[in-house]
Amino acid sequence: MTTLAVNAFESRTETILKGLRESGQLKILQTIEGPMDATVHLRGFGEVACFCSNNYLGLANDPRVVEAGIEGLRRYGAGTASVRFICGSFDCHERLERRIAEFYGVESSYTFTSCWNANEAIFPTLCEPGDIIISDELNHASIIDGIRLAAVIKKGLHKTVYRHGDLSSLRAKLEEARANPEVTGTAWVVTDGVFSMEGDLGDLPGIRALCDEFGAKLVVDDSHGTGVMGRTGRGTHEHWGMAASKVDYFTGTLGKALGGGAGGYICGSRAATDLLVQRGRPTLFSNALPCTIACSADKAIEVMMQEPERVERLRRNVAAVRQGIADVGFEVLKSPTAICPIIVHDTAKAIAMSRRLLELGVFVIGFGYPVVPEGHARLRVQVSAAHGPDHINALLAGLSQLKREFA
Ligand SMILES: Cc1ncc(COP(=O)(O)O)c(C=O)c1O
Repeated sequence: MTTLAVNAFESRTETILKGLRESGQLKILQTIEGPMDATVHLRGFGEVACFCSNNYLGLANDPRVVEAGIEGLRRYGAGTASVRFICGSFDCHERLERRIAEFYGVESSYTFTSCWNANEAIFPTLCEPGDIIISDELNHASIIDGIRLAAVIKKGLHKTVYRHGDLSSLRAKLEEARANPEVTGTAWVVTDGVFSMEGDLGDLPGIRALCDEFGAKLVVDDSHGTGVMGRTGRGTHEHWGMAASKVDYFTGTLGKALGGGAGGYICGSRAATDLLVQRGRPTLFSNALPCTIACSADKAIEVMMQEPERVERLRRNVAAVRQGIADVGFEVLKSPTAICPIIVHDTAKAIAMSRRLLELGVFVIGFGYPVVPEGHARLRVQVSAAHGPDHINALLAGLSQLKREFA
């Protein structure tokens, strides 16, 4: 007979935390003492240029977006204290969902408290036993977990992974699926539009062509592409010159370019959003997006649709930062996105470099394991339309200093 180890949790947790502390890998959460903008006020560091937020269009502290959130709170209170199928939706949810659908030019959208939640809703709800989900190996963790959850809930639902951005690997997986007698339903291909750690793009035209050849559905999580890619910021499909109708379903976040508060959505056909209302576990068992956010995100999308010059300013800033990083002597993967990873391999080194940058007045985060694979640690520089030349100069001066101090 075995004995339960009463203190097993405490001792293993202490061991993990001690290991992280001693190897310099412990994450320290900074405290921000004001709004998110081109600069932020960090406790202990003062005003620093912020290059680690997803505030791509600089709307997180836009007075119109802030005011809309305050007005939402005044008008609707904190919420219904319930889920939507029980107490209903506020009209601000309906407005936001119409706005998102209009922004993409698709039939319908449905919101969630996060895109993480949206990705945990879409696969377990829309996919059934006999289907197969084929996912890029570097897709966001929320897609990976959403697919895992779907496979647990729906026994007989197949899942597989193709090599990152590799169309021949995707083709091989689709061929395997076609030859598999147990795959009798729909094939779903899933990709990020912009990959959050690499800052590269999903090859949507190539993936779509394969989906058409094999009769598969395409799902794109464009959390880092929306508001950033394409002439009007519609997203990665616009960058590639594709109509939104070429993507069967989008998932996305309201917690980055589109206001920056929180929230996520799924958009595409009305039949799919109707099914999510009937069967999605996060829709049936979890509260709606807070009204403050529904109202501020709605305003953020309205502002971005009216002011496409923000997207143009972001594009110019991205070009200047990418060129500047290369001039300083760091390598950054070539790509048009606002995510510029500088690979330094070692997690402790990435954290030490990030800390030094903060002392120099620049806020850039070092990412290591388990956010990226062991040996692939990096500084991730993220660009915003809110940045002016002074912020970009501060970033490049800080990186120059790092180049001298760290071998
Ligand atoms: C590609 C991608 N999908 C989903 C998410 C999760 O978004 P949210 O913060 O709305 O849960 C993120 C956030 O980092 C992301 O980068």
